[in-house]
Amino acid sequence: MKLIKTKGQIRKIIRAERQKLKKVGLVPTMGYLHEGHLSLIRKASRENDCVVVSIFVNPTQFGEGEDYDTYPRDLTRDMEQCEKAGADIVFAPEVDEMYAAGSAAFVDMGGGLTDTLCGASRPGHFRGVMTVVTKLFNIVRPDRAYFGQKDAQQVAVIKRMARDLDFDIQIVEAPIVREKDGLAMSSRNTYLLPEERQAALVISRTLFWARQAIMDGEKNAVLIKEKITEKISSEQLACIDYAEVVDANTLKPLKEVRGSVLMAVAVKIGRTRLIDNIKLEV
Ligand code: PAJ
Repeated sequence: MKLIKTKGQIRKIIRAERQKLKKVGLVPTMGYLHEGHLSLIRKASRENDCVVVSIFVNPTQFGEGEDYDTYPRDLTRDMEQCEKAGADIVFAPEVDEMYAAGSAAFVDMGGGLTDTLCGASRPGHFRGVMTVVTKLFNIVRPDRAYFGQKDAQQVAVIKRMARDLDFDIQIVEAPIVREKDGLAMSSRNTYLLPEERQAALVISRTLFWARQAIMDGEKNAVLIKEKITEKISSEQLACIDYAEVVDANTLKPLKEVRGSVLMAVAVKIGRTRLIDNIKLEV
């Protein structure tokens, strides 16, 4: 496995791979890898000849006062994990390599997908995500790119961007990986103090309850949203940012549970903002 730090070097290697007609898979990450990331890398390794994992804490997707400076980083450990999971190349550029001085072009999206849910409380977040993902697509030129359903809105936005801007890249979505007790894996879970880690379980427990309610025949999406809010609020350390029941493709709120249903929440536990969701076909 190779560690590459510059765009020039990775372009050269990928060009050679493509000449050998190898299929290239890209797994974009911000590092501090866990089983969620590794599941994407393993899937990419099964489905492609050459797997690139990018590790880059992208400053443009963090807002003011967010955790860009404190975001956990451990490249040495990440490299070991990537190698075990079947990656061929780790692309880990510095910020000034990724963004040329004076970078002024960005990728943005109208139409409502980016200003709801996480986009409502993190203005500019998806602009930063779309911009860095576009750059990675242009640098690596993969055949397939892998994203986790953990960030359901991110996948919806990237799929729409790829369609609208004609990227010839298959966007592959992979299921959420959870800890044994249900907590969705996240690099940010390391911020949680022991009592917060325990309190955070209210999130997955509530989503599992909601899924069961729908499977038992509940059709009223507004009622489910209210119950989710009520159950999460009953945990003292939890502060809800949003709890929504939306159409999984348009992210518009649903009145009735029908079609592709996404139950998505963002909750602050202490100072840590966690997101989780469950997607259902009804
Ligand atoms: P990051 O949070 O590091 O996540 C990288 C990828 O891993 C994303 O596609 C995310 O959805 C997926 N992932 C995270 N936790 C997961 C879990 N528990 N189960 C399954 N997949 C999981 O998302 C980003 O980085 C950035 O926004 C990025 C796309 C790299 C752009 O900077």
